Amino acid sequence: TGFDLIIRNGTVVTASDTMRCDVGIREGKIVALADKLEGGEREIDATGLLVLPGGIDSHVHLAQPTSDGSVMADDFESGTRSAACGGNTTVIAFSLQERGASLLDSVAEHHQRAADKCHIDYALHAIITDPTQQALEHDLPKVVQEGVSSIKIFMTYEDMALNDGEIFRVMEAARREGALTMVHAENFDAIQQMTERLEKAGQTGPRGHADSRPIVVEREATHRAISFAELVDVPLFVVHVSGGDVIEQIEWAKRRGLPIYAETCPQYLTLTADDLDNANMEGSKYVCSPPPRDEANQKACWDALARDVFSTFTSDHCPFIYESETGKQKAGADTSFKYVPNGIPGVETRLPILFSKGVSEGRISLNQFVALSATNHAKVYGMYPRKGTIAIGSDADIALWDPEKRVTLSQSMLNHNCDYTPYEGMELIGYPVTVISNGEIVADQGRPTGGPGKGRFIARGPSSLIPTTR
Ligand code: URP
Ligand code: ZN
Ligand code: ZN
Ligand code: ZN
Repeated sequence: TGFDLIIRNGTVVTASDTMRCDVGIREGKIVALADKLEGGEREIDATGLLVLPGGIDSHVHLAQPTSDGSVMADDFESGTRSAACGGNTTVIAFSLQERGASLLDSVAEHHQRAADKCHIDYALHAIITDPTQQALEHDLPKVVQEGVSSIKIFMTYEDMALNDGEIFRVMEAARREGALTMVHAENFDAIQQMTERLEKAGQTGPRGHADSRPIVVEREATHRAISFAELVDVPLFVVHVSGGDVIEQIEWAKRRGLPIYAETCPQYLTLTADDLDNANMEGSKYVCSPPPRDEANQKACWDALARDVFSTFTSDHCPFIYESETGKQKAGADTSFKYVPNGIPGVETRLPILFSKGVSEGRISLNQFVALSATNHAKVYGMYPRKGTIAIGSDADIALWDPEKRVTLSQSMLNHNCDYTPYEGMELIGYPVTVISNGEIVADQGRPTGGPGKGRFIARGPSSLIPTTR
């Protein structure tokens, strides 16, 4: 008997319940929930704090290779350190299969990049850019077997986009292997034509990034991906949905009874294309795909979060250093937006933004916050109930939040390896104060207290979205 750690006097919140109780932890697991617990080797007084499942960020890019000479700012060490300080206890990062490379080898290489580096637990998704017979029939079963049970495919980016036949075949393989397919839905050819048009008109500044891929480009690709998923008869997860026209497609599919699911991200709630509107390249700090839209689309995303259209809320953390020639300044100030690496940092700010703008400002409930920040990620990606909830037997992954703490976001307070935050100056109410991973405190008052190497690889099972009988 006795506990390694007791969290006392807090308010425990799960996706379904809110209750005043103590939490007893032993050997990295939650072993007791009760009105009053005694006998902890260590105790944390959580009076006035919320005791939430640690956040799961199921869409982050860490140490991912690129084909254009740009370098991601965060590896698994700095990325998971930053994640922990932002209230997270698990991340799912992408393993990229580059064209011409073996899928199996690329996953093994990504395992190596992560091993002994992580402050918190991590898992991997497999990006497939080269769906050869070897990749789909030989490698994919092995990859799924070792716990990488979700794949991401791209409908855009020169070196990644799959054509329609390839998308179809990947979905068939995913169906066969019981893997969940995630899709980046933007029409590559349309973006290329739009880009040429803008370049001819001399509109090569960062704003051109948004103008070259208006939401119709995303809407069309989303509809096409949904249609293929219907033909193949598989669930589909649409990542980083940016606005109303795409949400309409997701809801249209759901109304038809199709197993179509989606996520959105902080940038689509808080940034707009106007943030890119800066000829001297400052706008490149906001270049990500899909691009931020406008206020009407921000509202559409908030409304969809409130009515549970989105299963998860992720960061799409994909950081590039601003003051660097391997980062946002890769092409210098004079050349086209098309050379600016796509992606922005956000793994540490994701949950504080959702909490403050969502819960504190009354747009979503606290239980919805927990579902969107942790529980649904665990279910969708095959880690529930080990991860994503506060229950007896679950991993002791817990974030203590002060719902009243006032914070002004700034680069100086963050723990990523990027040199800017797109959310500089944003005023928030509510912040994670103590973060516990496997029973150990890994972040306190916004600073790391754990260390690299404690985070373990989580081999995931099948997604809850995949039917178990066919
Ligand atoms: O611009 C973005 N989102 N970069 C990250 C890669 C992706 O498409 O998710
Ligand atoms: Zn492996
Ligand atoms: Zn993407
Ligand atoms: Zn991404």
